[in-house]
Amino acid sequence: MRIVPIDATLGAVVTGLELARMDAATWKAVEQAFHAHAVLVFPGQDLTEDEQIAFANRFGDIERLAPDPEQKAVAISNQKPDGSIMGPDEHRYKSLRGNEGWHTDSSYMPLAAKASVLSAQVVPSAGGETEWADMRAAYDALDEDTRRRIAGLSAYHSLYHSQAAIGHIVKPGAGYGFHTKGAPLRPLVKIHPVTGRPSLFIGRHAHAIPGLDPAESEKLLGDLVDFACRPPRTYSHAWRPGDVVIWDNRCVLHRARPYDYREARVMRHTRVAGDPATELAPTDRDDPAGAFEPSTSNR
Ligand SMILES: [Fe+2]
Repeated sequence: MRIVPIDATLGAVVTGLELARMDAATWKAVEQAFHAHAVLVFPGQDLTEDEQIAFANRFGDIERLAPDPEQKAVAISNQKPDGSIMGPDEHRYKSLRGNEGWHTDSSYMPLAAKASVLSAQVVPSAGGETEWADMRAAYDALDEDTRRRIAGLSAYHSLYHSQAAIGHIVKPGAGYGFHTKGAPLRPLVKIHPVTGRPSLFIGRHAHAIPGLDPAESEKLLGDLVDFACRPPRTYSHAWRPGDVVIWDNRCVLHRARPYDYREARVMRHTRVAGDPATELAPTDRDDPAGAFEPSTSNR
């Protein structure tokens, strides 16, 4: 197995192994590399759905994204099961366009995600890359004044909010994330439960910092994302079918890049649930949801 760090503060390309057939020593090295690099790229693995789920499951429980409890991988795709391509007015198309903003997965759920696995099935002729940004290195690069300013601050995370920002107004129950459990309140600085490294915990779902007026809050969160998500803290992956990537949602932001949405792009996604000890957050009423039924469960 070879682990070659990417020319950025995060990420490594891992070759010379089969993810579907790892012995204990190989798995241990992969897990260590995951904690060190936060994004691991495994070119050309061609995992079956079951193999991808088993790989994700090594990192923890699978977060249930689909209504069917047996379904542990979901398609992130603009192609419908009948082969046709989604139009711009469809709910799921608007969710895909939302993914083009920097975010971390499930920060809008009571229990934020630990990790995400993505594999490429069908890729467009151009564009459609995924990019990641290193929130550990971003925190390290902040000036002392900013670090002091954000030390005690938290933000609410809401998928209603982030989709509304791109003109997508959604009602509760319309899909995963559009719930009535309330908006989790999460500190802007997260300490990684394994490495102990501080990182910025921000992104498009974060808004409304208590103690700041809305304009101040929006400006601070926007400025932090702008500062954080730039070289040398970013990596952009141009997918080939069969590639597998896993990233650490606790310290990395990601986004999809646009492509010609008349072409098909089919990705298979498996999400690893966070640890309630470190990824569970209290929630407060999220106005667009209408009702507020607090819960510590994502389901
Ligand atoms: Fe995502």
